[in-house]
Amino acid sequence: MAEFRFDIKPLFPLEIIKVTSNLLPHTFRGDRRQCLDATSKMSEVIDRLGQLSAVSQGLNKPVTTAQRLRMSENQTIYLLSDTSYGANGVVMGLLKVGTKDLYLFDEQGRTRKVEQTPSILDFYIHESRQRGGLGKHLFEYMLTDQNWTPVKCSIDRPSEKLLNFFKKHYGLVRTIPQANNFVLYEGFFDEEASMGNGNGKSPAQSNGGMHITSSPNTQLFGAAYLGDEANKRSGRNNGSQQPNPLLHQITQISPSGRYGAPRPTCSMAEVLRHYNYSPSSFEMKGVPPQLP
Ligand code: COA
Repeated sequence: MAEFRFDIKPLFPLEIIKVTSNLLPHTFRGDRRQCLDATSKMSEVIDRLGQLSAVSQGLNKPVTTAQRLRMSENQTIYLLSDTSYGANGVVMGLLKVGTKDLYLFDEQGRTRKVEQTPSILDFYIHESRQRGGLGKHLFEYMLTDQNWTPVKCSIDRPSEKLLNFFKKHYGLVRTIPQANNFVLYEGFFDEEASMGNGNGKSPAQSNGGMHITSSPNTQLFGAAYLGDEANKRSGRNNGSQQPNPLLHQITQISPSGRYGAPRPTCSMAEVLRHYNYSPSSFEMKGVPPQLP
């Protein structure tokens, strides 16, 4: 766990605190000198947790640093602590969220401009405490605090662990393929989902498994996920042993995320490259992409 040379208790009067661009715990009260001290210590905490998260995800450099948070306008970091551990206490996890203006594909493959999209930007629980429910605890705190539901969240380059996390806790499996690094789950564009009770259960969850539609996205990217059950179903329904070329193509494709398998040959990335668009250009830069 992340231990520090200083006592973290004054920074963590609560088990979970949140920090924005002022680099102070939301609970902070103090004079200028205390403010400078708290900012400096909080920067150290954020940098350390950001570094641990990057190592855990195999990233070259951290997604989360104090400097980046300081420069951000609409990002929040939630930090989970255990102040009873050892003399100084420990920090066990970090969750960074924010809102982003994105161009996204909906379930029919239409491009939509979505402003202020809730986004999960970084998420880490210390290795020694993973799979013990702390991730859910921290995530639920954030959902309540932001008034978000899981199905309405976009996730920036989720790891396999995080995809499993969403599947286990929120039944979210079926994704809507995107041309950028963000993953969306089916139900993201549903109006009624935004009026849910916060448990984020997507209408898609009951089907679990294969995501096959006739949308242009599916034709470009292939299906996002193929479950064993779906394979069995298709075998039963076909009633023959003839290989289905579409299914063959789909089984080559792993779930979305940074560990995803190679794209099919006709990918949106190639189309965009041909027309001189980088994937990140789908984040709004003022000019909507003109797809061919
Ligand atoms: N392998 C596969 N799934 C995993 C996993 C692992 N090593 N660790 C967590 N999960 C998923 C599983 O669905 C797991 O349920 P299970 O144990 O019944 O299989 C579930 O998460 C556990 O939920 P919970 O205990 O609430 O989450 P957590 O405390 O482990 O935190 C993460 C979840 C993703 C934040 C944590 O695993 C982590 O920090 N991973 C490394 C960093 C990372 O990948 N972050 C995501 C950035 S995009």
